[in-house]
Amino acid sequence: MNFSILKDDYRTKKADCLILGINSNYKPSAADSFPEEIKKIIKQAFDEKTFTGEFKSVRHFTISERPYFCSSILLVGLGDSNEQISSVRYKKLIDAVYQQIKMQAYSSITILLDGFIQNRSCSSCIKSFVGELSFQNYRYTEYKSKPETPYNPDIAFATVEDDAEEALAYSTVLKDAIDEARDLQHTPGNVGNSVYFAGKAKELENKYSSISVKILGRSELKQEKMSAYLAVCSGSSNPPQMCIINYRGAGEQVAPVAIVGKGLTFDSGGLSLKPASGMDEMKYDKCGACVVIALMDAIARLGLKINVVGVAAFAENMPDADSYRPGDLITARNGLNIEVANTDAEGRMVLCDAISYTVDTYNPEIILDLATLTGGCIVALGHIATGLIANDDNLAKELIAAGEKSNDKVWRLPLDEEYQELIDSKLADITNSAGREASPVTAGAFLSRFTGNIPWAHLDIAGTAWNSNGYKHPTGRPLALLLEYVVSKAGK
Ligand code: BES
Ligand code: MN
Ligand code: ZN
Repeated sequence: MNFSILKDDYRTKKADCLILGINSNYKPSAADSFPEEIKKIIKQAFDEKTFTGEFKSVRHFTISERPYFCSSILLVGLGDSNEQISSVRYKKLIDAVYQQIKMQAYSSITILLDGFIQNRSCSSCIKSFVGELSFQNYRYTEYKSKPETPYNPDIAFATVEDDAEEALAYSTVLKDAIDEARDLQHTPGNVGNSVYFAGKAKELENKYSSISVKILGRSELKQEKMSAYLAVCSGSSNPPQMCIINYRGAGEQVAPVAIVGKGLTFDSGGLSLKPASGMDEMKYDKCGACVVIALMDAIARLGLKINVVGVAAFAENMPDADSYRPGDLITARNGLNIEVANTDAEGRMVLCDAISYTVDTYNPEIILDLATLTGGCIVALGHIATGLIANDDNLAKELIAAGEKSNDKVWRLPLDEEYQELIDSKLADITNSAGREASPVTAGAFLSRFTGNIPWAHLDIAGTAWNSNGYKHPTGRPLALLLEYVVSKAGK
């Protein structure tokens, strides 16, 4: 989809379809600005009650008069103009528009955006439209020998608002990054192994002079005493690949924001093997790390005045004669001894060493991690909000705000002292699994032991990184939230 802003009179541009938002309390009047031909159509539709402006209703009309600047119009019902439309309902409205334009296969479309603004800002409308239309239109066709022809219309937003171009520029970077993240996330375990993704991370170095990339493999991890991370990889023929993507957009002395993503290219559970049903979905256990790669691309493309260290921590968890075992006692990089209660709690084993390394090496102002960490997070929050755990209230607030603004929601879970006791181990300092109860929180408590004194937040994206109903697909979440957060941080 190619989006553009149309500042001139929209009648000067030819379009297959002109899309108008119409309220249910719309009264055709001499004062409104629609051309006579269109006013006539709307009036007739209202008179005959074939279109009432009811929220999310849609109605098509072919323009009989030819030649005319548009060959058809699509009326979209916005409901009563005095009612607020929530972000969730706004998204559904855009989905309804998508269904229509895709079905009719329009190739040039003009959306009269000012009619769709209602209680929002122009820039938030553009972000919603570009984000949702692109999300719906995304297809992964890499392994289809006969892929459907891509739907690639030109879509112009007619608006007089000043901030439209800026909003579109941002939305374009964001949607490209989400598409990129989803392509990476879709790549199956047999192709998308750790070395494959390290290559993808490396590409950023050639693409941007502001980025340098360092890959730590088995021997580097050994040198750094990252035994917890290494333990997870010991049963796999694919080596660990910890990809450090260093973006410099601010002065060399400015402490960076660090963002660490869990990148299990496949999580079989290891010797604590997962049940067969649904195991295929564990190819999505790398979603966090894929978001990190695409996010760094977006940050560099926007040229943000901030330093960001992105860490994509790739590994594979497999059963094998060399696998780590339940009962193993392992000393992590920061000296804490871990009792392995369950080899399927591997995400925290990878992340703990990646986090402590990042904290010690880059002394970040803030450290975030994102991980498909616990099935319990899906039980708690479903597929709607990402779980948030933080050791800093201010950081938590900022992330919640960024989530609301980008419509990529998070919900905070507790990290009270009592939870820390649940990960005590009889034999070592901490256990990697405290069982089912409060598992997202005990996983967070585990990670919190590796962050030093740095403000830290953990995003458990187990429920939001992919969709398992119907056609399974990764979502690219929480890329929108993280870009929003980093942009607002860079602006300060
Ligand atoms: N990658 C899984 C978490 C997961 C499971 C995400 C299902 C999405 C859907 C993670 O490595 C895992 O296996 N977690 C265990 C931890 C437990 C052994 C303490 C879990 O949540 O069951
Ligand atoms: Mn696991
Ligand atoms: Zn996992």
